[in-house]
Amino acid sequence: MATKPKLVLLGPPGSGKGTQAEILARELGVPHVSTGDMLRGAVEEGSALGRKVSGLMNAGALVDDGTMAEVVRERLGRSDARGGFLLDGYPRNRAQAETLEAILSASDRDLDAVVLLEVPEEELVARVAGRGRSDDSEEVIRERLRVYREKTEPLVDYYDQRGLLRPVDGVGAIDDVNDRILEAIG
Ligand code: AP5
Ligand code: MG
Repeated sequence: MATKPKLVLLGPPGSGKGTQAEILARELGVPHVSTGDMLRGAVEEGSALGRKVSGLMNAGALVDDGTMAEVVRERLGRSDARGGFLLDGYPRNRAQAETLEAILSASDRDLDAVVLLEVPEEELVARVAGRGRSDDSEEVIRERLRVYREKTEPLVDYYDQRGLLRPVDGVGAIDDVNDRILEAIG
């Protein structure tokens, strides 16, 4: 990749998207754009956005596509994301994937790759148990997993058909997973 990469990290809750994105963003010199972190920041600030989304997040439900489109359009329009970015937590359904394509093509950009972090379900639940986020109780993590399977997992085929999917084994030491991702994106 001559220019900086434009990447999406896809994977179920607890698969290590945030953990890996933080490391990769440093290595690749691109901003880590986490919609979950942005929404949690809004909740902490008590902004209008935060008040709108906190109930949904605590229930493990998705925030509506229109709200998310505004958040992502604004963030990817900032100068630091012009060259490249690492999206974590977006898109989460087909409509969001189409919105992302539209946002990028409006500025003559497109995705370079979609990294899929693969981790078995039992390990996902064990990883987030006791992390302490307000949406990490066993009941809510099960609901987030259900929503992932129903709404987000279809994006695996969607991106595979576009030749963008790079599946990576997400189990093992954090550094080993990082090495696998770097190899997968070339
Ligand atoms: P979001 O914040 O995106 O959460 P998530 O996708 O459910 O995933 P997590 O952040 O819990 O997991 P992760 O994959 O980042 O793993 P992590 O690195 O933390 O979304 C939260 C909510 O916001 C959603 O439910 C929704 O309400 C809303 N939202 C966000 N985006 C939205 C959108 N686009 N549309 C609509 N709504 C949206 O790792 C997990 C744990 O495992 C950590 O404790 C970590 O230390 C550990 N770990 C990491 N790697 C390893 C490893 N290799 N081995 C062992 N442990 C590891
Ligand atoms: Mg995360």
